[in-house]
Amino acid sequence: MSLSGTCRVCAGSVREFFDFGRQPLSDAFVEPGDTREEFFFRLAVGRCDACTMVQLMEEVPRERMFHDGYPYLSSGSAVMRAHFEAVAERFLATELTGPDPFIVEVGCNDGVMLETIAKAGVRHLGVEPSGGTADLAAAKGVQVRKVFFEHATALEVLRDHGHADVVYMANTFCHIPYVESIFAGVSALLTDNGVFVFEDPYLGDIVRRTSFDQIYDEHFYYFSGLSVQRMAQRFGFDLVDVEPLPTHGGEIRYTLARSGARTPTPAVAELLDRERETGLSEPGTLTRFAGDVARVRDELIGLLRDLRDRGKRVVGYGATAKSATVTNFCGIGPDLVEFVSDTSPTKQGRLTPGAHLPVRPPEAFADPYPDYALLFAWNHAEEIMAKERAFREAGGKWILYVPEVRVL
Ligand code: SAH
Ligand code: TYD
Ligand code: ZN
Repeated sequence: MSLSGTCRVCAGSVREFFDFGRQPLSDAFVEPGDTREEFFFRLAVGRCDACTMVQLMEEVPRERMFHDGYPYLSSGSAVMRAHFEAVAERFLATELTGPDPFIVEVGCNDGVMLETIAKAGVRHLGVEPSGGTADLAAAKGVQVRKVFFEHATALEVLRDHGHADVVYMANTFCHIPYVESIFAGVSALLTDNGVFVFEDPYLGDIVRRTSFDQIYDEHFYYFSGLSVQRMAQRFGFDLVDVEPLPTHGGEIRYTLARSGARTPTPAVAELLDRERETGLSEPGTLTRFAGDVARVRDELIGLLRDLRDRGKRVVGYGATAKSATVTNFCGIGPDLVEFVSDTSPTKQGRLTPGAHLPVRPPEAFADPYPDYALLFAWNHAEEIMAKERAFREAGGKWILYVPEVRVL
């Protein structure tokens, strides 16, 4: 075990501030009866002394996570579908207004965003290595290339399609440790005034809400305004806009342009000022976060054991990647949570990684309703609670653990 490492952005020294121990891959759902040993790695996070970037201490090889059987489907939430339709409409109205615009989406998954671009008849390309999701995108009329985006593949896209006005990534850039290759690819691909736009979970929200379950294998980086600005400058870009988003429990959409190409909006300085005032990137803040994580774990496990001892039925809601960290770090097995309800056909009938909670379709949730539902998909709380009003009406209660453990 090493308590320091080398920053994947700037080669500075990364100091560890929390260790979740050995964890499985968050999206590696297990087929019942499959006796092959699961892959485990040491899930720990640290902060770079030099550029402040928060990142994992250990990297999982990308092919282990993103492959033809990758089960995450972006279109599983109505709120997220509406979100990405709005993103597409905004690009169509702002950045894609020239004579023959072209947009590249890295990590397009099942085509949730590009579908709207394709319908508008605008040139586009999704770059998506997870073959099953890429096929779903193609079935929606989206152009897709089944490769990992990096410098070499970006040059192939440039050769075949020409320069892009926009390179967009949602919940994808934070998944990619090799940022130098990404920036080289984006830089080669973009027009002179093109933009690199990405949205990912915000470190400020993770710390403020103790949402430690955002920390798992696929999330290699935990961005802040400051760490993104420093990273951009290092690779020849400016951070020219930031926009807080309510998605996935609090994200920021960052817009980067080539150095000097665009004037930063006042929102950039405002965010950096706020981060400075709250000490977001100070080591002390992250140490405090680590203490909060341990407290939430103790409270959650205490509550679940108490419910079990009182003979109550508890079912999980949403077999999220995030829940892999919660269940395995807290030691939540089938003795505490009977099964997890999930709408993804790619997860149903399987067992959650490590903890081995059975995943069942939503019909099982109501047959009959449990006494308590542990909301693993807390980032979709509004959508889910509206959909599941009958559960509350039948006397069911929700258990939340973000920003603190409570029963609703
Ligand atoms: N953009 C979607 C999907 C996010 S999941 C959304 O916001 O819902 C992350 C996606 O990134 C996965 O589909 C994964 O296959 C893809 N991905 C991971 N590394 C990648 C890379 N180097 N190039 C392109 N896509 C990548
Ligand atoms: P999500 O929180 O989007 O991402 P991650 O896996 O990265 O943590 O995952 C939501 C999961 O919850 C997904 O497997 C689909 C499922 N889900 C439901 O079962 N019902 C719902 O109503 C919604 C919105 C999601
Ligand atoms: Zn660094």
